[in-house]
Amino acid sequence: MIVVIDGPAGSGKSSTARAVAEQLEIQFLDSGALYRVATLIYLKAEKNKELFFELLKEKKISFHFQEKKFSVLLNDTDVSNDIRTMQVSQHVSEVAAMPEVRAQVNALMHKVVEEGIYIADGRDLGTAVFPNAALKFFMVADIKTRAERRLAELQKKGDDTSLEEVMANIADRDEIDSSRSADPLKKADDAIEIDTSALSFEEQVSIICDQIKPLITS
Ligand code: DC
Repeated sequence: MIVVIDGPAGSGKSSTARAVAEQLEIQFLDSGALYRVATLIYLKAEKNKELFFELLKEKKISFHFQEKKFSVLLNDTDVSNDIRTMQVSQHVSEVAAMPEVRAQVNALMHKVVEEGIYIADGRDLGTAVFPNAALKFFMVADIKTRAERRLAELQKKGDDTSLEEVMANIADRDEIDSSRSADPLKKADDAIEIDTSALSFEEQVSIICDQIKPLITS
């Protein structure tokens, strides 16, 4: 069974989905992290598309959720920290817009979620990847709130990016993610919309947990 949360960058999808997974003891899948690993490969290929597609075929991307931590691996090397830099954020939407990359990431996700109960977060999960998901959520928040959340995350890691820079990056990604032709960011008709601008983290987690619980206990 899969439950999905889609929404723009910084709307709180990943941290909420992770907390829901911990509380309900189900699996968590951060699909954006997989596009970020593909972006690491793109940067290694020095943005040469031909070389990038070759490396993408050769290299193995995998992930696991253990002890409350979602880890992504590239050829068995843990790259969970390397994918969170501003450099990766600046290129990830460009990489995620490539249909070849989307096909590979989607195939990997479908294979993994065949067994177990998952909550996954992304942009197009409810519309394109898992149209038959058991439950769909679409999380939104105003851009300033989203940028402040991302900045706090970056600052915790010692990154001294400014609020303006993070806001510009989020606005850019919103634009690319929503206007690309390959599976753009879009609310599925049957998704439940949650505006997190004025909600506490605990409130947003409990709204989602309350909806999922009846499905996993029945
Ligand atoms: O959630 P995130 O910020 O880590 O996602 C990184 C990028 O990946 C985001 O800018 C768009 C892309 N993405 C996507 O196109 N489809 C998904 N299902 C998840 C992420």
